[in-house]
Amino acid sequence: AHVWQGVVNEYRDRLPFGDDVEAVTLGEGGTPLIYAPALSAHTGNKVYIKFEGMNPTGSFKDRGMTSAITAAKAEGAQAVVCASTGNTSASAAAYATQAGLRCAVLVPEGKIALGKLSQAIAHGADLLQVNGNFDNCLEIARKLADNYPVFLVNSVNPYRIEGQKTGSFEVVDTLGDAPDYHLLPVGNAGNITAYWKGYKEYSEKWEDRDGNVLEPVATKRPKMWGFQAAGAAPIVLGHPVDEPETIATAIRIGNPASWAQAEAARDESGGLIDSVTDEEILEAHRWLSSKEGVFCEPASAAGVAGLLKKFEAGEAPQDSTIVITVTGHGLKDPQWALKNADGSDIQPTKVDFDVVSVADALGLA
Ligand code: F0G
Repeated sequence: AHVWQGVVNEYRDRLPFGDDVEAVTLGEGGTPLIYAPALSAHTGNKVYIKFEGMNPTGSFKDRGMTSAITAAKAEGAQAVVCASTGNTSASAAAYATQAGLRCAVLVPEGKIALGKLSQAIAHGADLLQVNGNFDNCLEIARKLADNYPVFLVNSVNPYRIEGQKTGSFEVVDTLGDAPDYHLLPVGNAGNITAYWKGYKEYSEKWEDRDGNVLEPVATKRPKMWGFQAAGAAPIVLGHPVDEPETIATAIRIGNPASWAQAEAARDESGGLIDSVTDEEILEAHRWLSSKEGVFCEPASAAGVAGLLKKFEAGEAPQDSTIVITVTGHGLKDPQWALKNADGSDIQPTKVDFDVVSVADALGLA
């Protein structure tokens, strides 16, 4: 049996690392592509969830972080920095600590989920809560990396995109070809950029470092459909949003760094970038947990929210293969599972410790 070696080792011939470079890895990637029966039946397609919550720190960021921290270590960096809405900081902190690097993270105060905050602290990062939003944090992180001896590990670092493009490789390796559509949430727009790069490279001949030419793995490329939160939808609106707001804090971003690349992915693939409201996001979040058995954080449900929205509008594909990236685990931000659609709290039922009381509570009596 093949033991999964993490994305740098699994896809090294398609990544910028020679055989002499030792990977910093937690065994990321190799995440399940889960057939979604309810979404498939409801929309009349074959819908698959690429569940990135199954990565070591619970989000897709680990694919890019193994690659960025591997590069940082190989280049002799002593410290790394990132701005984050939470997941990047959790991932950077974990990989940096394994590599023996100092890790500084800049997060918007009061706007990151407790699970993510806990991860950065547990892994020993220098956690700085900034009195501002993600866009402000990224500006400072970039300046810090420009002026001080620290290595920037946000997705503006090309090594991040390189690692994250392996998500597409895995989808194609599992399905045998590219899907017709690939849907995903869009925040800082690194992931849509990375997936599109991966799909393009896998559908062309590839010359590796040793001059070996690899034949195309996929015969086609998907249309890329990206979804922003309605209160943080600069690409949809066509201008930056100064004060982005959404309950999906992971994608609470008003001026994405990879804006142009996201538009290129949309246009080159014949896809679209649209927005979904917080209500639509929470409805998709409930759909995933209560019908498909997949528990994610709110932002991670934006792709599913997008499919449901397009289906209601009569604009969804039919008889197509659709892959939706669900980007992060529900345990990162579990509070949303405990709310009803109207925002009221769901309270667990209390019972006495006897079987009649339990049967009563279950309506079996
Ligand atoms: N989903 C989750 C759970 C995320 O954490 C992010 C981004 C996205 C989607 C959007 O991906 O930025 O590549 O378009 N989180 C970043 C962070 C910003 O700091 O953790 P993107």
